[in-house]
Amino acid sequence: MTHSPEATAVVPGRFVTFEGIDGAGKSTHINAFVDTLRQGLASVGRSVVATREPGGTPLGEALRKLVLDEPMDLETEALLMFAGRREHLAKVIEPALARGDWVVSDRFTDATFAYQGGGRGLSRDKLAILEQWVQGTRQPDLTILFDLDPAIAAARLAGARAPDKFERESAAFFTRVRDEYLRRAKAAPERFVVIDAAQSIEAIAGQLAGVFARLSVPGHGPR
Ligand code: ADP
Ligand code: TYD
Repeated sequence: MTHSPEATAVVPGRFVTFEGIDGAGKSTHINAFVDTLRQGLASVGRSVVATREPGGTPLGEALRKLVLDEPMDLETEALLMFAGRREHLAKVIEPALARGDWVVSDRFTDATFAYQGGGRGLSRDKLAILEQWVQGTRQPDLTILFDLDPAIAAARLAGARAPDKFERESAAFFTRVRDEYLRRAKAAPERFVVIDAAQSIEAIAGQLAGVFARLSVPGHGPR
């Protein structure tokens, strides 16, 4: 298939992230979101890279096993999150965006501020230094935050899967994580779409459909 230069020029590569506390419902929606995005962008010759953090590269996936399973010093945990992120940016995210492709990541730096910062109490200033070092000015263009009461999230997760190190944390921990996510969403409303994740799966899918118009995805409403 060939595409006119005009068509590709009006749809630049974009970086979209999904965030929320464990059990809020991200995984339930992200694959369908990526599939719809792929279909819309195929008409302008753009691909979609679906990826995740921790992870996204062979090294990042090895680090993921460590950070999700092994007890470790809080600052070590934050440094490993950012080390994996550096690799992810260098090997996957930046090259994809440079090609004009889109990237959808299941979690990114907001998770570090929410979990290591809000949840575990590491200072925002330290995290901001690492963010600047690892990312420079790179930020997601859009972040979809699944917001949910931790009690509901815990009830959804009970028995659903074997909990990892984070999923075994207390309700108070997840309340702090949620609060930090909401604080960040309030501070950058142009970047965040906050989804009320207590809604039905169908209602959330409907709300996500509206995001494609906001992202100017071909075939999905006004630019
Ligand atoms: P996350 O990826 O955010 O940790 P999941 O998508 O894995 O969450 O969802 C956690 C559990 O909650 C799963 O068992 C899923 O089927 C269920 N679930 C997801 N969304 C909803 C919803 N809107 N209402 C009720 N249950 C849901
Ligand atoms: P996730 O892949 O969403 O887990 P699952 O697929 O089991 O829902 O995220 C893994 C965990 O890592 C999650 O509890 C949040 C945590 N996390 C951090 O603590 N800091 C980070 O920077 C990132 C990216 C994730």
